[in-house]
Amino acid sequence: MPHRLAVYPGTFDPVSNGHLDVILRGSQLFEQLVVACAVNIAKEPLFSLDERLEMLRETTADLPNVKVESFTGMVVDYVRSLGGKVILRGLRTFSDYENEVQMAYANRTFAPEVETVFVCASLEESFISSRLIREAAALDGDISRFVPESVAVRLQKKAHELKGAVKKHSKGR
Ligand SMILES: Nc1ncnc2c1ncn2[C@@H]1O[C@H](COP(=O)(O)OP(=O)(O)O)[C@@H](O)[C@H]1O
Ligand SMILES: [Mg+2]
Repeated sequence: MPHRLAVYPGTFDPVSNGHLDVILRGSQLFEQLVVACAVNIAKEPLFSLDERLEMLRETTADLPNVKVESFTGMVVDYVRSLGGKVILRGLRTFSDYENEVQMAYANRTFAPEVETVFVCASLEESFISSRLIREAAALDGDISRFVPESVAVRLQKKAHELKGAVKKHSKGR
């Protein structure tokens, strides 16, 4: 049975050109793509859920089959609630591989009918991570190559807060 709907879950703190590349590829593979922004309190996101949703909506507005929603709890439960059977994730480096495969197996154990599908971003976008962007922005680095313009503006506005947040974040990681 063909899969029409895919769910792309993540923290998107903030959405990057890497995420957007995955979203574009997903929107071309599936009839409908739901970008599912996790509340993810454990990660102590820099941007609030509302801000992350707004940035995702602004930057995907030109893709009519992409919908942005938030979710709490298990990804598989959210996918099931939509009647979906596909989780979309992006793969960058070998370091992603271990975590991503572990999560895919865990999700398969919880929901055997749900398949995780991985796509690679284009090579130029594949080294971008939200953490790198937050850290570079905190050091006043030029992040315009990594995020859409509207996200860069929000990062600049947060510059002060960012400096404190990166200190706190880098301790545990
Ligand atoms: N530059 C990129 N290229 C490809 N995939 C990416 C890139 N950046 C992030 N991703 C993928 O997007 C997904 C969501 O990432 P992220 O926002 O960090 O949420 P999470 O907290 O679930 O890891 C993950 O599958 C991650 O590997
Ligand atoms: Mg991640």
